[in-house]
Amino acid sequence: MSYEELARAARGNIGPFCKACPVCDGRACAGVMPGPGDKGVGRVAHGNWEAWQNLRVNMDTLHGPFSADTRATVLGCELSVPVMVGPVGDVQRHYGERYDTVTYNRCVLEAAAGEGTLAWTGDGLDASIMTEACDLIASLGGRGLPTVKPWDAATLDAKLDQALEASPAAVAMDIDAAGLPFLRGQEPPAGAKSAAEVAEIVSRCHERNVPFVLKGVMTPRAAARAAEAGVDAIVVSNHGGRVLDGTPATAEVLPDIVSAVGDEVEVLVDGGIRSGLDVFRAIALGARACLVCRPFVVSAFGGGERGVRDYLGQLRSELADAMEMCGTPSLRDISREALWAPCGDR
Ligand SMILES: Cc1cc2nc3c(=O)[nH]c(=O)nc-3n(C[C@H](O)[C@H](O)[C@H](O)COP(=O)(O)O)c2cc1C
Repeated sequence: MSYEELARAARGNIGPFCKACPVCDGRACAGVMPGPGDKGVGRVAHGNWEAWQNLRVNMDTLHGPFSADTRATVLGCELSVPVMVGPVGDVQRHYGERYDTVTYNRCVLEAAAGEGTLAWTGDGLDASIMTEACDLIASLGGRGLPTVKPWDAATLDAKLDQALEASPAAVAMDIDAAGLPFLRGQEPPAGAKSAAEVAEIVSRCHERNVPFVLKGVMTPRAAARAAEAGVDAIVVSNHGGRVLDGTPATAEVLPDIVSAVGDEVEVLVDGGIRSGLDVFRAIALGARACLVCRPFVVSAFGGGERGVRDYLGQLRSELADAMEMCGTPSLRDISREALWAPCGDR
């Protein structure tokens, strides 16, 4: 099924907050939390999407025929496509009854592994979510990434143990989760973490030969501190607008972050990436790979594991189409030159 068909099939069983729009551009759910929207006036999620649309691509078909190679190496894993399924916690609260976080994680982990890529799992106040996600990742031979919240030291310690036991592709932390309204004043507590604390987490992961990723980096300065702390990758992410209103779009900050740390860490990005052409744009701005989040929930509600696989397949073929139309046979060939700049900006 195409994404549009999946969204149509999801309508009616995904409500009441998500409208399963044909293009998940953050408008219909602006400011809707609980639900899939964003914080405050609710322009950040839409801004993320719009910033990709504002990047025009340079068509170049003056070349011999080739079939585009969409494979990427991310954190030492070979992926069939530079797209991973982003983490979602508390699925039932935000999207409705059909999936809870455990069944959703199973659906996306199996679908992503089946399509030669990875899904990231979310975390929450309910401890069983992390336990079940890690069991599943272990049963898939480590093909998945548990994302741990920046909990207090004791909780974090226990969750990291669980995560590392699964020998996952990497462990991630959404360092920006302190801004989530649902975590404020809750038990266990979550909050900001210093670079020194992050460095300790990194060494725990490295002792077990597991890479560590910091998700929620939006400035070159924070990226440099993350690189200094030894992280293997960062995700340029504003959490889809859910942790702070008024932030720039991820596509707007990505180039400066790549310039600052692109030689030291792998730079991943998320936020409003909806098509293979958007993936192409992100690679052209210097990202190694992308995470896509909300549309996979819609795909799961509309078509289960098959739906998630179909949408991944759609992203792959749209990316290949863009690569062939822009004369870039492999991801390495996609550079800033693939993006058009008005005369004044050159
Ligand atoms: C309902 C919902 C729950 C989320 N839960 C998590 C989470 O548990 N951990 C996390 O790192 N990010 C979480 N995110 C953020 C996403 O992983 C992603 O960063 C964000 O949605 C931007 O990507 P998108 O525009 O493709 O959705 C959540 C997002 C939504 C909409």
